[in-house]
Amino acid sequence: MSAIVNAPKEKVVLAYSGGLDTSVSISWIKQNYNMDVVAVLVDCGQPDSLDEAYERAIAAGASKAMIIDAREDFVYNYIFPSIKANLKYEKSYPLATALARPLIVEKLVEVARKEEAKAVAHGCTAKGNDQVRFDVGIRSLNPDLRIIAPLREWKLSREEEIEYAREHKIPVKVSKKSPYSIDENLWGRSIECGVLEDPWEEPPEEIYTWTSIRREKNETLILEIEFEKGVPVAINGEKLAGVELIKRLNQIAGSFGIGRIDMVENRLIGIKSREIYEAPAAVVLIEAHRQLESMVMDRELLHYKYLVEEKLAELTYYGLWFTPLRSCISSFIEKSQEYVTGKVKVKLEYKAFSVIGRESCYSLYDLKLATYDKQDIFDPRYSESFIRIWGFPYEILARKGRMLEER
Ligand code: ARG
Repeated sequence: MSAIVNAPKEKVVLAYSGGLDTSVSISWIKQNYNMDVVAVLVDCGQPDSLDEAYERAIAAGASKAMIIDAREDFVYNYIFPSIKANLKYEKSYPLATALARPLIVEKLVEVARKEEAKAVAHGCTAKGNDQVRFDVGIRSLNPDLRIIAPLREWKLSREEEIEYAREHKIPVKVSKKSPYSIDENLWGRSIECGVLEDPWEEPPEEIYTWTSIRREKNETLILEIEFEKGVPVAINGEKLAGVELIKRLNQIAGSFGIGRIDMVENRLIGIKSREIYEAPAAVVLIEAHRQLESMVMDRELLHYKYLVEEKLAELTYYGLWFTPLRSCISSFIEKSQEYVTGKVKVKLEYKAFSVIGRESCYSLYDLKLATYDKQDIFDPRYSESFIRIWGFPYEILARKGRMLEER
């Protein structure tokens, strides 16, 4: 008797989000590569129903689906370090999407090893930054893995993609009327496509969910945010674990409409794009943290740190996370946080917030030096001599007849 044994198919581990692109990718990979698809959904705190996404992966044809809860990992290894670095790309975008990519890459590569998969896949298009973050991240951790990017190889317009999904009976949420591309995690929500592609058009109110306003116009709220070594640990005296603290702040600040970002940004591949972000906790925490640093850090460290922060934001945005420079900068940032402990008072208002107070046991602020009142202990003679020396090079230039001619 002879048995017919089917050679097992090769496996590919797909970064699955539950959305249109990755759902369509499952059946596309099966069709074009004849591989078994292991769908991995990494939970970075996106508010979607993960059970539904799991079902959708199976319905779309995945041979196996798994959900990895990476929320704590995300907070402690990516979000908190980014708060310490006041991380924003082009001074505005708190990098929610970008920061989650290396984390997802780590998980993908790990699953690929366990499942003995030869390939990994992602649903990124050829126009965005995410493809760079996935490809470079994956190759930095395991250069032998083959990378499959269905949406990049197979050029489909969004409409065609929706049509393909319909034909293949893949259940998806988007309809032709709401063509937004959305990426969400605990640190923020990124919105692209549709009318947003016209940078002159005001974004319609309907695109906002985290920051839909649930407060009266004249309502205000004061929050005291406590930091320990650069990390937020409590709100209004209540100690909170990372995930909970960020979730809570997203809700509270979001209810005032705080955290909307509307910008045209420079993508790595050279295209400019109009992006909308909702990141209530991120904008409040980074500003509060920055103001606490101003109080406890000496001027030279503070100013030098700005330069490094900008570089780190670029490296994060550019998908260069698993690199020596990123790692060295992260060590620098970590070391700089030793005294960033204290409290910041933040006032929330209709679509706005401001830091209205700060306090720290490591404060370098000295009232007796700063005051113009009679408690002043500052010796004015110090200033006179200091300024003479400070300006000495230019005084000498002038004496040698080389004063600046043009004004
Ligand atoms: N422009 C942002 C970035 O590159 C967000 C991308 C969001 N992706 C999306 N599918 N909406 O980090």
